[in-house]
Amino acid sequence: MSTKAFDLYRLKGQPFELGRYDVQRIGRDVEWTRLRQIVNFAQQSRSPVNAVLLGTYGSGKSFLLWQLARSLQPATKSRVLGLGPIRLVDPEQKRDFTRSLVLRLFVRGMDIENELVPILRNVAAPKAGWPSALRPFVGLLLALTRPDAAAVARKVLIGSRILRREAEAAGIAETLQIRTSDDAIAVIQALQLVLHAAGVTAIAMFIDEVEYVDALPRAQRVAVLDSLKHLWDQQVDFFSKGANAATLLILMAATPDYWHRLRQQVMMEGGRGESGVGITPFFARIRASEVVEMPAELAPDEARRLIVSRMSEARDGQKRDEIIPFTDDYVDYAYQLSQGLPRQIIEICGVVLAEAAQRKLKKIDADAARKILSDLLISYEPISEKVS
Ligand SMILES: Nc1ncnc2c1ncn2[C@@H]1O[C@H](COP(=O)(O)OP(=O)(O)O)[C@@H](O)[C@H]1O
Ligand SMILES: [Mg+2]
Repeated sequence: MSTKAFDLYRLKGQPFELGRYDVQRIGRDVEWTRLRQIVNFAQQSRSPVNAVLLGTYGSGKSFLLWQLARSLQPATKSRVLGLGPIRLVDPEQKRDFTRSLVLRLFVRGMDIENELVPILRNVAAPKAGWPSALRPFVGLLLALTRPDAAAVARKVLIGSRILRREAEAAGIAETLQIRTSDDAIAVIQALQLVLHAAGVTAIAMFIDEVEYVDALPRAQRVAVLDSLKHLWDQQVDFFSKGANAATLLILMAATPDYWHRLRQQVMMEGGRGESGVGITPFFARIRASEVVEMPAELAPDEARRLIVSRMSEARDGQKRDEIIPFTDDYVDYAYQLSQGLPRQIIEICGVVLAEAAQRKLKKIDADAARKILSDLLISYEPISEKVS
């Protein structure tokens, strides 16, 4: 649809696009504060922190992860390097889960040139030198700061093949590739060391859509959770040996349904006395105080602010609180229909506004919206009365 279509409403384009995260946050103040506290806590901690954000599909989990990651930029200022958000499970997930996760963090979870390299430039090697086991991986990361080696080092970190002679020329012959999960864990630990040496106190990994694990066959599902557990245990071990390193915060987002099922499985495993591998050990490493659950819905006044905020971003020089072309009874109707769920508010407003523009309606009230949705054969679940 051409942007001209919205001229009628003095809008530069469609204000209600799903998946736009670089917009004003509405509400979720409690959750935001808790997430910020968890980040602060990780900065002070000498052991890894595993936190979980729970919310229904469409409640705004990806949005909050994205906003949190962005609020930490630049890491030179926040002292926290945010990685991601990335999904827990890649559609092309190979067997080696940790390796694939870490490579994806380098491919999609960070801006190597603009975010990582400026920090690496501030790294001062510790007097005692780097721990020998991690020294090659430290070398690989620091090679990113050297013009003659950066391109080759980058290739290794994103999982591309390089030639031995390229590696030799770049001075990283010991780390030709990130081949195994152990290599991947070593890369993360080396990153923690160099970040610490540059004054960064924590790395925050933002991992989205954890519930997709359930789509995997059981054996693979257990393997994924087990790998996360292993990553965690390696961190505990790393710090217990006195590493001077940035702490690792893993913040995962999932649906409450998934979490509930996981808890039930843990109880069943507990009943059978299984505890070595599987779901229970993973679950046991997440403290209840680090689970943040957000309600599905925004409050009615927040929903209204969401609508106004999206429209004023698509408008020049308008009053910030303008709801036109919508009417107040439209806003009430949309709230009822969406049950306050952000994704549905945006979806409904987007469809209704686009169609109203086609029909050249000056004003959009509840009746007009109802007619549009029924003409387009769009129906939403009837609102269930909340019984307490
Ligand atoms: N607190 C909020 N303020 C503004 N927009 C939000 C908020 N929460 C969610 N949204 C918007 O709602 C839509 C759905 O959010 P999303 O994060 O994708 O949900 P989830 O990941 O929980 O399924 C996105 O377009 C997002 O921009
Ligand atoms: Mg999401």
